[in-house]
Amino acid sequence: MPYIKKEDFQKQRDIETRFALLENQLANLKSENEKLKKKRGKAGRPPKKDICEAGMRVCDRPEAQGKILVISDLHAPYHHKDALDFLNALQAKYQFTNVINIGDELDYHALSYHENDPDLYSAGYELHEGRKVLWELEKTFPEMTLIDSNHGSLAYRKAKTGGMPHHLVVPYRDAIFAEKDAYGNLDRQGRGDGWRWTDRLVLNVPNQPHPVTFIHGVQTDVRNAVRRIHTNVVQGHYHTQGDIRYEATYNGVLWGMTVGCLLDDTSRAFSYNKMIPQRPVLSCGGIIDGVPRIFPMLLDTAGRWTKVVP
Ligand SMILES: [Fe+2]
Ligand SMILES: [Fe+2]
Repeated sequence: MPYIKKEDFQKQRDIETRFALLENQLANLKSENEKLKKKRGKAGRPPKKDICEAGMRVCDRPEAQGKILVISDLHAPYHHKDALDFLNALQAKYQFTNVINIGDELDYHALSYHENDPDLYSAGYELHEGRKVLWELEKTFPEMTLIDSNHGSLAYRKAKTGGMPHHLVVPYRDAIFAEKDAYGNLDRQGRGDGWRWTDRLVLNVPNQPHPVTFIHGVQTDVRNAVRRIHTNVVQGHYHTQGDIRYEATYNGVLWGMTVGCLLDDTSRAFSYNKMIPQRPVLSCGGIIDGVPRIFPMLLDTAGRWTKVVP
């Protein structure tokens, strides 16, 4: 066995100690890196640009305003069983280039300020089921503008009632599309990238000298909304109405459209209005080359969609 000098032996011990320390540091860095990767979602790549914030959506361009679809009052998960099939069929027929969801996309029955029905879902399960419906909807309509509404905003209204600062509440898009990990980090994994929520929307459309305001619900008689806002108006909220009303003055013609809804009238979530004879009008709205249209979802005697695509 070769003789090792005392100082060489000490040197080797020092190297081994430093090597162990470096190995320990490397392991710590690797674990920190894994945590960051998990936080960012996909393999440590920087987050994608938000196409809503960056103004990159195709549906916002002027040339996209010739074929507009307006969806209203799905009240998921208490939506009509055939609502998604009906919307898919409309999209296949018309190839809409801009889609506006005019509100009450989720019902949030269990969060309501009114009495909760004990035979319906809990707040958590209702959101779980409602999210699944909107995820399906996003497959057909990857770009959508959604309008703030009384049901859609219930979580935020309840948070305010409970004294929660808005900073502590997740935005609409995360509430619907994100998953939450064990650390509380939200990751949408690209879902909902093209969906944007706003209080109201004003658009210029072809062949119309006046703009169109999209708002959840203003007046039962939509002509009063037109008179108040001084533009063409598209509204939802009034489930029992699906109509277009024109208003002519010396300054030209304005119109207002109430879109109807796509809810399930047999659900206990709507038992509050069981006693009134007017029933929900199942329909969507549209504006094609500047002309407002109602697309009725015709039902058979069993209450199912007849598959007629208007
Ligand atoms: Fe509604
Ligand atoms: Fe509403």
